[in-house]
Amino acid sequence: MLNGQVLALKYRPKNFDELIGQETVAITLKNTLKNHKRLAHAYLFSGLRGSGKTSSARIFAKTLLCEKAPVDIACEECVSCQMANNNSHIDIIEIDGASNRKIEDIRDLIQQTKYRPSIGNFKIFIIDEVHMLTKEAFNALLKTLEEPPEYVKFILATTDPMKLPQTILSRTQHFHFKRINPNLIKLHLQKILKLEKVEFEEEALDIIIRSGEGSLRDTLTILQQAILFCDNNLQTKLVINMLGLINPDILREIFQLIKDKKKESLLKKLEEVKNFDIQQLINQFVVIVKENLIAKGGDNINFYSKIFSILNEAKQLLFIGADTEFVLYFTFLQMLDFEAENKEKKNIREINENQQSIISQNVKREENTEPHQNNYQYELINYMNIWELRLFIYYILFTAFDNLFYLFDFFIHELLSISL
Ligand SMILES: Nc1ncnc2c1ncn2[C@@H]1O[C@H](COP(=O)(O)OP(=O)(O)OP(=O)(O)O)[C@@H](O)[C@H]1O
Ligand SMILES: [Mg+2]
Ligand SMILES: [Zn+2]
Repeated sequence: MLNGQVLALKYRPKNFDELIGQETVAITLKNTLKNHKRLAHAYLFSGLRGSGKTSSARIFAKTLLCEKAPVDIACEECVSCQMANNNSHIDIIEIDGASNRKIEDIRDLIQQTKYRPSIGNFKIFIIDEVHMLTKEAFNALLKTLEEPPEYVKFILATTDPMKLPQTILSRTQHFHFKRINPNLIKLHLQKILKLEKVEFEEEALDIIIRSGEGSLRDTLTILQQAILFCDNNLQTKLVINMLGLINPDILREIFQLIKDKKKESLLKKLEEVKNFDIQQLINQFVVIVKENLIAKGGDNINFYSKIFSILNEAKQLLFIGADTEFVLYFTFLQMLDFEAENKEKKNIREINENQQSIISQNVKREENTEPHQNNYQYELINYMNIWELRLFIYYILFTAFDNLFYLFDFFIHELLSISL
């Protein structure tokens, strides 16, 4: 299997119909290619690593130079297409911005733009990782980028467009490459696995996709590793092992223990997992909670929103370098506490509701009785909800505007002293 070929290269898209999850880019570029009238001098492809920028630059160049052009899909048969597919097209010049970042390199490039294309109508310069160019190199490029000879086209690609000078940005037509939708990645991977005759478990595939974080190249690299590690049969257990992850079943158990308020068993489980990468554990736990929330059809939303807040807080603690074991215990015990609190409130509410129904029955019997006591109880419950809401807002502001925290703290303090 694989014949020593790297999966990501073997399955590089050959035309815009094969490009996954970048519909806006694909449609716009195909429309431009159909009719060369709206061609720009320079394009900028930016976005997440491994999301199709270099592939798109090559597809665009190949389609522009295809002997059948103008076409939106290259013929793949003409000499020009074949040369482009072998990366040996004389009129497609690919430059790696990371290793050719100096002003002399750009001067060489500008010199090359002066010669007409050898076989096609266009000479296309693809500058990859363009954000690596030096300031002087950018300045040298500016004039040519704005007014190149009519046969020259530039395609700049970068993961980091914020590092480009405004003068470069304003001279290019900008296309943003997004993080690829996991469902689309899954379909793509399933197709590849079928072609490669590899068996797989659904959950193993989901775990690989999550680890790729929306980058198709990263996902394919992990997939390839997994195929080798699992010897052509992707089993969840093996994939988890390979990636150094925790078995999701353990995390499901932990979540169940939280919901069942089983503190002792929870502490034992935490002891079992405390040597894993806690950052990773938190990320995996988020997935389990999401899975649970969807399965429950959005019931008990308050509980889930609190759990997500606690997990978010845990990530921030880890980000600022807090002790990982502390974060583990602090995070999960907090969840347990909230659930306990939740159950108590639920009980109070149930008692109140029972009392209310008894009272209203009495009211029906004795028309003179006024249900003041009952209203008071409801006010109390509403008051409690307002408190929850206040705390929630307090929390959001705390996490989002760290610096405003003290100001807000002061404000809340003043507010309380007025209302109490
Ligand atoms: N949108 C996509 N559709 C199909 N395959 C893709 C896509 N994005 C990435 N790939 C796969 O990942 C490989 C690498 O993609 P590509 O080189 O185009 O990414 P890139 O965006 O240029 O990444 P980098 O930022 O690291 O340069 C391709 O060979 C292909 O197998
Ligand atoms: Mg690239
Ligand atoms: Zn062709």
